[in-house]
Amino acid sequence: MPQCGWGTNDSNMTNKLIGPFTQLLTMDKLPEKGSISDGQLEMIHNAGIMVDNGKIIEIGDYSKLKQKAYEQKIHIEYIDNEMVVVPGFIDCHTHICWGGSRAGDYAKRLSGKTYLEIAQEGGGIWDTVQKTREAGLAELEAITAHHANQLLAGGVTSIEVKSGYGLTFHDELKMLKAIKNADTPADLIATCLAAHILPKDFKGNADEYLLKMAGELLPRVKEQKLAGRVDIFVEKTAFTVDAAREYLQKAKALGFDLVIHGDQFTTGGSKLATEIAALSVDHLEACGNIEVELLKNSNVVSVVLPGASIGLGEPFAPARKLLDGGACVAIASDWNPGSAPMGDLLAQACIIGVYEKLTIAETLSGITNRAAKALNLSDRGILKAGKIADIAAFKTSDFREIIYRQGMLRPTIVWKKGESVLKRQPYKL
Ligand code: NIG
Ligand code: FE
Repeated sequence: MPQCGWGTNDSNMTNKLIGPFTQLLTMDKLPEKGSISDGQLEMIHNAGIMVDNGKIIEIGDYSKLKQKAYEQKIHIEYIDNEMVVVPGFIDCHTHICWGGSRAGDYAKRLSGKTYLEIAQEGGGIWDTVQKTREAGLAELEAITAHHANQLLAGGVTSIEVKSGYGLTFHDELKMLKAIKNADTPADLIATCLAAHILPKDFKGNADEYLLKMAGELLPRVKEQKLAGRVDIFVEKTAFTVDAAREYLQKAKALGFDLVIHGDQFTTGGSKLATEIAALSVDHLEACGNIEVELLKNSNVVSVVLPGASIGLGEPFAPARKLLDGGACVAIASDWNPGSAPMGDLLAQACIIGVYEKLTIAETLSGITNRAAKALNLSDRGILKAGKIADIAAFKTSDFREIIYRQGMLRPTIVWKKGESVLKRQPYKL
């Protein structure tokens, strides 16, 4: 088997059978909301996946599919090791397009300063905004692709990426273009986060800034098809609930899907998310019983971001309580240079899983089918006929090892739309 690497090889034929796989977790037929037990996972033993034109056309018993492949002269991509396959992971919340580094902020936090204190001193998000404005388009494209490929090496085949470090008409467009042009096999789903903070150099107040972004930037983003989603940071140091409501209503009228960075330090974001039917509310570290009650009665996905808790040394969002309350919980890395510098989705999902007592099914669902729901993408997150053939294979015969190894078991093969985009030497556990 080739060494770890990118690119295509002769196994990338469009119509083929891939297998056999020791275990295949479909992530199909799971409840959209609430808790999930491991017994609810649909598993196929000795499985094969028939792929054509980037899509799964059939999944089932390998011996039967092999017979069909012989009869119809379909190429077989033979897997000669014990492997467990799952849908390619989906990271539904990242900020992987940025300039500079915030290692200095991190050192300050280790010395006792808080994230908000650093922001008030002129560091934090504003520091990254200045470095991102200085970076050229090509540089940002390369940085974004580099980060995306690191996620891909961990089995992540679809990645949401936010702007939000430009914060002027031109710099936000530059970021969104960099996200669109980034050269990576992973799918990047762009979100406009021009409402991240009020930039320090804007001549006017928060309302005036949002008015300008909604009036000038969002129509241009729509027209140039640079993003289909709009996000806003609802927080004391960013935007108020009332300002966010007005801004998001305008975004909705332009046809954008809505997302909120909410309840990170103070509440208000999740209530607004349910009111305006946002796709998701993300963070939720500060969410309590009232918010759980609102979220469980809504269609809003609760996206928890363990990477931000790990990066800030703060408690995790109450994922167990949200699931027990009946909410739909997805897990994302929030990879960014400030609050969440690690950028390892699987490791972070495993870590919140052990602290919050999430079942293996809940953890995997949070980075597959439920993450797809957060992005309003019905074509992925599940291994089933008709879905995109985004697949991650791990060298083990027991699916539980993927979570048990807390992120250290990396996928041996990753397929994007049926093409193997990563292969590494299988290693012993
Ligand atoms: O999701 N909370 C707001 N935004 C990002 C952090 C961005 C940064 O610190 O650079 C987050 O944590
Ligand atoms: Fe974020």
